[in-house]
Amino acid sequence: MTLTTMTSDQEHIRNDNVKRFDEAATDWEEKPQRVALARKVAEAIRQAIPLSGAMQVLEYGCGTGMVSRALSQDVRKIVAVDTSPRMLEVLRRKAEEEKIGNIETLVHDLTRQPLPDKDFDLAISSMTLHHIPDIEALLHQFFAALKPGGYLAVADLVTEDGTFHDDNNGVAHFGINPETVRDILIKNGGLDIGAQEIHIIEKHSENSAMRRGYPVFLAWCRKDITHDT
Ligand SMILES: C[S@@+](CC[C@H](N)C(=O)[O-])C[C@H]1O[C@@H](n2cnc3c(N)ncnc32)[C@H](O)[C@@H]1O
Repeated sequence: MTLTTMTSDQEHIRNDNVKRFDEAATDWEEKPQRVALARKVAEAIRQAIPLSGAMQVLEYGCGTGMVSRALSQDVRKIVAVDTSPRMLEVLRRKAEEEKIGNIETLVHDLTRQPLPDKDFDLAISSMTLHHIPDIEALLHQFFAALKPGGYLAVADLVTEDGTFHDDNNGVAHFGINPETVRDILIKNGGLDIGAQEIHIIEKHSENSAMRRGYPVFLAWCRKDITHDT
């Protein structure tokens, strides 16, 4: 599969996201539920993937790097990629404060261009797929960036009814069916595929005092040594 030309709708979602996430960057970690989710995702990745101090990791749509920072001691190096320069600025500042020296940042859009580096041992992503119109093409790019035998782990909201975000501009999917991700992993020759619910984000809905729970899944696999991507 090749990267396709963006439709004007896709281009709009992309540009909208850069602007919104740039604006949100400074206060991104002020919401305790985001911090709690990132910790859960990092923990679930530790459980699902045999991390090692030799691994070079790609985190895609890393935001302020909460997951990368949590995993930084478990691996050799992390390349943290996002389309929002402001998010990456916050990541670099926080990594410096926390004396983390093995995270590199890169402003890059994999939906437009493959990465020059294709020797990652692990590709991870958290809460980013639902902002990407063509998740099949994106996951294909994750496989392409991996070494044969490398691992992939993606976390996102399970399909929801459109009430999770206060404003759905820049949202390409109201959550994602983990089975859809599983099918894409199979199509790309993924081995040892797993998927499980790892967390529930609790939110007050706008129109009522009711709390609602939005489940989050992690799906993971290993890239087949013989599969050509
Ligand atoms: C909901 S935030 C999640 C951030 C981080 N992973 C976390 O869990 O806190 C989604 C992130 O995806 C990034 N993003 C959106 N579209 C993107 C794209 N096409 N390529 C790379 N990153 C993108 C945004 O800039 C934002 O940082």
